[in-house]
Amino acid sequence: MILDEVEQLLHERIGLDAGTVGVSGLNYALKQRMAACAITDPSLYWRRLAVTPQEQQELINAVIVPETWFFRDPKAFVAMTRQALAMRAKGEVAEGRALRLISLPCSTGEEPYSMAMALFDVGLAASDFVIDAIDISTRNLAAAAQAVYGRNSFRGADLEFRARHFNAVEGGYRPHAEIRRQVRFRHGNLLDPLRIDAEPYDVVFCRNLLIYFDRDTQERALDRLHRMLAPHGVLLVGSGEAGLPLTCGFSSLRIPMAFAFAKRGAAERQPQPVPPPLAAAPAVRKPPARPAPAVPLRTRTPPSRTAPPPHLTPSAPPAPAPAPLRDAADESLETVERAANEGRLGEARQAARRHIDAFGPSAAALYLLGLACDADGAADEAVEAYRKVLYLAPDHREALAHLALLLRQRGDLAGAKAFSDRLGRLEKRSERR
Ligand SMILES: C[S@@+](CC[C@H](N)C(=O)[O-])C[C@H]1O[C@@H](n2cnc3c(N)ncnc32)[C@H](O)[C@@H]1O
Repeated sequence: MILDEVEQLLHERIGLDAGTVGVSGLNYALKQRMAACAITDPSLYWRRLAVTPQEQQELINAVIVPETWFFRDPKAFVAMTRQALAMRAKGEVAEGRALRLISLPCSTGEEPYSMAMALFDVGLAASDFVIDAIDISTRNLAAAAQAVYGRNSFRGADLEFRARHFNAVEGGYRPHAEIRRQVRFRHGNLLDPLRIDAEPYDVVFCRNLLIYFDRDTQERALDRLHRMLAPHGVLLVGSGEAGLPLTCGFSSLRIPMAFAFAKRGAAERQPQPVPPPLAAAPAVRKPPARPAPAVPLRTRTPPSRTAPPPHLTPSAPPAPAPAPLRDAADESLETVERAANEGRLGEARQAARRHIDAFGPSAAALYLLGLACDADGAADEAVEAYRKVLYLAPDHREALAHLALLLRQRGDLAGAKAFSDRLGRLEKRSERR
C-alpha cells in the first residue's frame, strides 16, 4: 500500500500530520485523485505522484481541510482592530505608512475579507492598510478570487455586516469591490521560507493550521511566524491552538476569546490587557461613499460583561439567575477564559471545574473545559467535556468538529465519522434555511 509514502510526502511538502485527517480522509482524497487520473493501480499512481508537482498540488487540494467562515471567532477581529488603532496612535505604524496584515492560511478568503471589513468599520481608509492572503491550496485561492459565498460562509447570529459589505449575486453574496481590492491573494506555504515577503507584518492571522501539524512542525511554523511579525506586532491563532505560541517566544495579550499574542517582552510592555476603547481611537478617515457603520461584532460592550456567543449558550437555558449571581457566573467564566487564553491550561481546567461545581453545567463552561483539556493533551477528559456540551447543546458545531478531530486522532474512525456526519447534516440544514 502506498499510504505510508503519501503520508511522508504530505508531511514534507505541507507539514501535514496525517493522523489529523485520518486514514479514511487520506484514502478518500487518494481515490478521488486516482479516479481523476484514470489510474486504478495505487503503485502506478504513486509513481506519477512522486515526480509530478502538479499532481502533488492536486492531492494537496483534495486532502486539506478548507473549513472557514466570515468573522470566525469574532473577538479576534475586535482585538485586531483595537491593536491596529493602538499601533497607529502610539506611532508604531508611522504616519503615512499602511498597516501590513497577513492571513496565512486564508483558505477561501472569508478571513482576510473579514479583516478588511472590520478595519473599514472602525474608520480606516483603503490607503491605510494592505492585507496579504496566502494559502497552499490553489483550489481555495481560485474560490477566494471568485469571492461568491453561500450560506455556509455566514454562521452565527449576527449577520448584519452582510447587508453593508456584500452584493447579492447568482450563487450567493459577493463582497463589495472596495473590500476585495484590499486583499492580495498569493499561493504559498507557511513552511517555505523563500516564498513569503521579508518585510515584517503588523498583524499576522495564522488560525486553524497549526492543529494539523505535529509538534516539531508546529515549532518550525511558530519560529517562522515570529520572524514575520514586527516587534510591536500581534499574532492571532485558532482557539484550539492557544497553548502553542507560549512555548515559542510569544506572550498572551490576555484578551478573552481572541487568542492574541505578542512577541515576548512586547506583550509585557503593553500598558493594559485591552487597548483603548474604539471611542477613544485616533481620528481616522471614513471609507469613501459609505455611511459610518457600526462595528459588526456585538462587542462594543466592555469585555467583562460580554455575553457568550450564541453557539456557547445551552439550547434550553435555565431560568435566569438573579443579577448578582449572573455577574459572579460571568466573572468566573472569564477567569476560565483568561487562563485558557494565556496558556495556563492546568489552571483553566481547574477553574472550569470550579465554575461547574458552583454554577451548574453549561455548554459554555464545558466547551472551555474541553478546549483547555484538549490543548493540555488530556484527550479523554476533552472528549467527555465535548460530549456533555452536545448533551446540553446538540447543535454546537465547534464541539462536534473538535470531537470528530479528537476521535479521528485516536483511531476511532466510526465515532469520528458519526460526529462529522452530524456536523455535515447541520451545515446542510443551515444552507437550506
Ligand atoms: C481550516 S483552514 C483555516 C482557514 C482560516 N485561517 C480560518 O481559521 O478560518 C486551513 C487552511 O490551511 C491551508 N494549509 C494547509 N497547509 C498549509 C501550509 N503548509 N501553508 C499554507 N497553507 C496551508 C489549507 O489549504 C486550508 O485552506
